[in-house]
Amino acid sequence: MNILAFNGSPRRRGNTSLLLHELLRGACEGGAEVEEVIAEEINIKSCRGCLRCNVLKRCAIRGDDWPALSSRILNADVLVFASPVYFHHLTSSLKRILDRFRSFINVQITEHGLSHTPWHIWSKKFILLLCMGSSDEADAVPVIELFKFMTSILGQNNKLVTLAGTRLAVTNQVIMREEELQSLYARLNLPSYLAKNDFLENQKLIRKCYDMGKNAGRMNCQFQE
Ligand SMILES: Cc1cc2nc3c(=O)[nH]c(=O)nc-3n(C[C@H](O)[C@H](O)[C@H](O)COP(=O)(O)O)c2cc1C
Repeated sequence: MNILAFNGSPRRRGNTSLLLHELLRGACEGGAEVEEVIAEEINIKSCRGCLRCNVLKRCAIRGDDWPALSSRILNADVLVFASPVYFHHLTSSLKRILDRFRSFINVQITEHGLSHTPWHIWSKKFILLLCMGSSDEADAVPVIELFKFMTSILGQNNKLVTLAGTRLAVTNQVIMREEELQSLYARLNLPSYLAKNDFLENQKLIRKCYDMGKNAGRMNCQFQE
């Protein structure tokens, strides 16, 4: 099992990175080969909308890391997209990579919309791992919808699983102890009684990430919905 993970957080010790690394640790222990791509560090230019991919069946942009990265994407069994939620969406560094997925698809205008035909046969697992400051998962709806759309146009056999952590604002928060959460919440003007349950929820989330990675790492990976 070959897992390629995109880390879209600008914080190296942020909640997204901590959870992603837990997922990848599980995946390694499950026997997978894993690779992490730091979205901010890889040299990927923005899609320039030339639409030449509709003819070339590959991206026309030269002089960046896309040719190598696109082969790694096509070879992966599992693609992980890990991102903090920024204004209800994913971070711009990840969006820049996602826009280049346009070169994997032939797009035609139809009378009623667009038709999307992938150049390759895709049957991959997608894991969307999100961290957000809000207490309400509704903040992540636009990015989840985007990934439902992307996975379906790339191939009907693709499968998407989403994991989201809420009420995570500061670096390291997801691994804070209950007492640390209590003093953080006092500074954030949040009721301190929330800390007890949030500590347990954060522990559960860390465990879920590990388990999801381990499941994905196994040859016949079974995904928890
Ligand atoms: C520019 C910006 C926009 C944000 N927008 C949202 C948002 O729309 N909804 C939300 O719940 N949190 C939002 N947040 C909070 C982050 O999602 C949250 O702090 C997350 O845990 C950060 O992940 P990280 O620790 O991996 O950096 C935003 C943060 C920033 C910096």
